[in-house]
Amino acid sequence: MASVPSLASTVQQRLADALSAALPEAGSADPLLRRSDRADFQANGILALAKKLKGNPRELAAQVVASVPADDVLREIEVSGPGFLNITVSDRAITGTLSARAADDRLGVPLADGAGTTVIDYAQPNVAKEMHVGHLRSAVIGDAMVRILEFTGEKVVRRHHIGDWGTQFGMLIQFLIEHPHELDHEDEAAVSGEEAMSNLNRLYKASRALFDSDPEFKERARRRVVDLQSGDERTLALWQRFVDESKIYFYSVFDKLDMEIHDPDVVGESGYNHMLDETCRILEESGVAVRSEGALCVFFDDVKGPDGKPVPLIVRKSDGGYGYAATDLSAIRDRVRNLGADSLIYVVDARQSLHFKMVFETARRAGWLSDRVKAVQLAFGTVLGKDGKPFKTREGETVRLVDLLDEAIERASAVVREKAQDLSEEEIAERGAQVGIGAVKYADLSTSAARDYKFDLDQMVSLNGDTSVYLQYAYARIQSILRKAGDARPRAHAELGLAPSERALGLHLDRFGEAVAEAASGYEPHKLAAYLYQLASLYTTFYSECPVLKADTPAQVENRLFLCDLTARTLHQGMALLGIRTPARL
Ligand code: ARG
Repeated sequence: MASVPSLASTVQQRLADALSAALPEAGSADPLLRRSDRADFQANGILALAKKLKGNPRELAAQVVASVPADDVLREIEVSGPGFLNITVSDRAITGTLSARAADDRLGVPLADGAGTTVIDYAQPNVAKEMHVGHLRSAVIGDAMVRILEFTGEKVVRRHHIGDWGTQFGMLIQFLIEHPHELDHEDEAAVSGEEAMSNLNRLYKASRALFDSDPEFKERARRRVVDLQSGDERTLALWQRFVDESKIYFYSVFDKLDMEIHDPDVVGESGYNHMLDETCRILEESGVAVRSEGALCVFFDDVKGPDGKPVPLIVRKSDGGYGYAATDLSAIRDRVRNLGADSLIYVVDARQSLHFKMVFETARRAGWLSDRVKAVQLAFGTVLGKDGKPFKTREGETVRLVDLLDEAIERASAVVREKAQDLSEEEIAERGAQVGIGAVKYADLSTSAARDYKFDLDQMVSLNGDTSVYLQYAYARIQSILRKAGDARPRAHAELGLAPSERALGLHLDRFGEAVAEAASGYEPHKLAAYLYQLASLYTTFYSECPVLKADTPAQVENRLFLCDLTARTLHQGMALLGIRTPARL
């Protein structure tokens, strides 16, 4: 493992050294290096510095240029405009740096300084309920963030805060007691996700109907809630059957999403039951929470309802029942104290933002979140239909996630089949799933999480534009060129001059680590997606302008194959960080 400094950071360092050599009084002033269209980079920092030192910026710039040592990284530095520096690096430096990246399994991407422990709360469906399109984003964004953070060296603990507790279980359990075979299967060893969910659905509907029509059943269901909360063994065992049945279904959906969810990481709301009393006691004793109309509440100066009255966070209801907030507060205590979290991320719908704002603030007041622990809601927007309204079926019902994924796979398989040259039926099916699921994930990850986006399958599986299919085809095309060229991994030839499109591609390849670091530190996978899309576009330009296998000399053939190979590896690694497959043949 060898981290490779990017050319940008090398140039930045050279300029910073030259600045302090030319102007010792400048201290450690920042040359402010940017990418540029005029040259490879532009440095703007001298302007501000000249202002501060009351000097002439152009003169100062010339002085700095004179202090830059001649070497083989910088090809040209010129003073431009009021005192900018335009910087061009040498072709040799580009190829040399890329060659060092290629020699490293991590493509030279460094581990982050000061990595710590992040607990990430994502993919949190609810027991005995169908997963709908709203559960897609949390799973997809969360999974990408886990991969990105782990790649930067962060220790990541996953938590799937499933909804597995609440009064509705009284009704379900009571119904199961009265209809004991409703969750039985013909073959217990091989229950499919679909079968599990359809059982749960049927049971849910039947018990709901009874609950609404039969007051005596309703009463028995209420008493069952009390049994559940007091830990009655038989009641708990039946509750566990609902959880287990639901997990069969959840895992089948996550499997379709090509996502690994591990059982020990599924710690639902019920996992914090043993802490709820204590959480409330501490809040009340410390005065963070107060009783109001029988409920235990936390108030905030800036949280008011439409009537101007303060809206509290209710930690315990007036009937003594605990809600969502008590659980989340207890989870924070557990994650900070027992899991050692330095950062807490919650990948949850933006509509729950007020809840998290109040929960975090409460935890800070109680001292459960100190200044050194970061708590962030990675809030995401709504998935919209083509009409721009929240996604619904024609009948106005919420869309089942499984149906959506199946349709994506079907559409993608059609695209793959149409382009297939030498693929078997089995391969078409496998690629169809990789392309379809990739398309759904990429559409979600390529816009910033906070924004709503339209779920438009036609657009998602299109071969043109900012889609995963475009990226996957770029990757597969490169693989086909590399196959034609033979087995050996191509080597770089740093002595060769580069064409403009080779330089542009090369400089972008060199930025991979920056793109990963940005996506990791701001929790913004869309920045990585944007980087990859640009990479594929630059590759397309390179490929149309520079013949590869028919280049002029054997050394140039190999150098271009080297660029192809590094582009493919970067695409593969980047897509893997987004949770998307890159099949070698499409
Ligand atoms: N199960 C919840 C839902 O479906 C999301 C849970 C989010 N996580 C949390 N710690 N509150 O809306």
